[in-house]
Amino acid sequence: MTGAAGFIGSHLTDALLERGDTVVGVDSFAPNYSRSIKERNLASAIDSDGFELIEADLTELDLVDLLEGADALVHLAAFTDARGGESDLPEYERLNVDLPRRLLVAAHGAGVGSILLASSSAVYGGAREDGSPSTELDPLEPIAPYGQSKAEMEQVADDAAAGGVPVACLRFFTVYGTRQRPDMLCARAIEAATGGPPLPLLGDGTQRRAWVHVGDAVASILTALDTDLAPGTVLNIGSPDSHAVSELVDLISGIAGHEVAVDRRDAHPADPAATIADISQAEELLGWKPKVDLQEGLEEQVAWARGL
Ligand SMILES: NC(=O)c1ccc[n+]([C@@H]2O[C@H](COP(=O)([O-])OP(=O)(O)OC[C@H]3O[C@@H](n4cnc5c(N)ncnc54)[C@H](O)[C@@H]3O)[C@@H](O)[C@H]2O)c1
Repeated sequence: MTGAAGFIGSHLTDALLERGDTVVGVDSFAPNYSRSIKERNLASAIDSDGFELIEADLTELDLVDLLEGADALVHLAAFTDARGGESDLPEYERLNVDLPRRLLVAAHGAGVGSILLASSSAVYGGAREDGSPSTELDPLEPIAPYGQSKAEMEQVADDAAAGGVPVACLRFFTVYGTRQRPDMLCARAIEAATGGPPLPLLGDGTQRRAWVHVGDAVASILTALDTDLAPGTVLNIGSPDSHAVSELVDLISGIAGHEVAVDRRDAHPADPAATIADISQAEELLGWKPKVDLQEGLEEQVAWARGL
């Protein structure tokens, strides 16, 4: 697994170890947030006999050597800043397009039986104009470099799949839960409600997102690993219900018992007005649908953040 010390990766590591799998996790402890947070994410996995951590930048590793003997590859490492601009294009290209391309070649060469790449709802650029959910067959119209790089990555995967490489892409919508990246909205809102700095609220708060709990996101990956998906399969992984940012902020205020202080800022051009997920493909092919209710998931995240 790449990106094993990150938000989704560390939860996936714990879940794989829990079910008895052996995990080789690679992470460079990239500076998108602090090393100590990523070390804390792996606190329970690190002493497990079934876990090996390789601290390295994937772009500098011999990938064939790395993947030799692996049954599966889950690729989560990325340049994850969804609001980066033109000046970040080389990083998006290097980490979100070239790296997965090289991983696919290496994994194919090493005979890895199942490859999953983390894509994003950002490939859609936003919800359909009529407000109906985005399906996997919709055109990809990303509005910012992050989404463009994930769309390019999917194209790389599609080309590889045409050559018989067993790769599938999971398009995650907005994932929340314990260990969430500190730059993400719920984490910042919870910080604001528990004595931290005010939440920088970009835009008017009406933006809707298909928030999905990290436990549900991890369940989709586990099931995808156990399912013989056709090469080139792409699946939306989100909640079928979208909620506005302002609703989320109100929920967090209620749970924390403190108003989330808000620092209003201009809307960001990389933020679409809404993301809405059609998850019927994931339901059909994986038997997957989210189980964690938003209120319940946020209560857990607030309690966890308070315990830090
Ligand atoms: N969190 C979300 O809401 C969300 C939504 C859609 C898609 N995704 C995708 O899911 C994946 C995981 O996201 P996350 O939120 O867990 O991010 P994260 O930043 O918490 O985890 C990514 C990890 O990858 C590592 N990494 C980055 N570059 C590396 C490199 N060159 N070599 C080795 N390790 C490297 C980082 O150190 C980090 O620990 C990403 O591909 C992201 O684009 C996330």
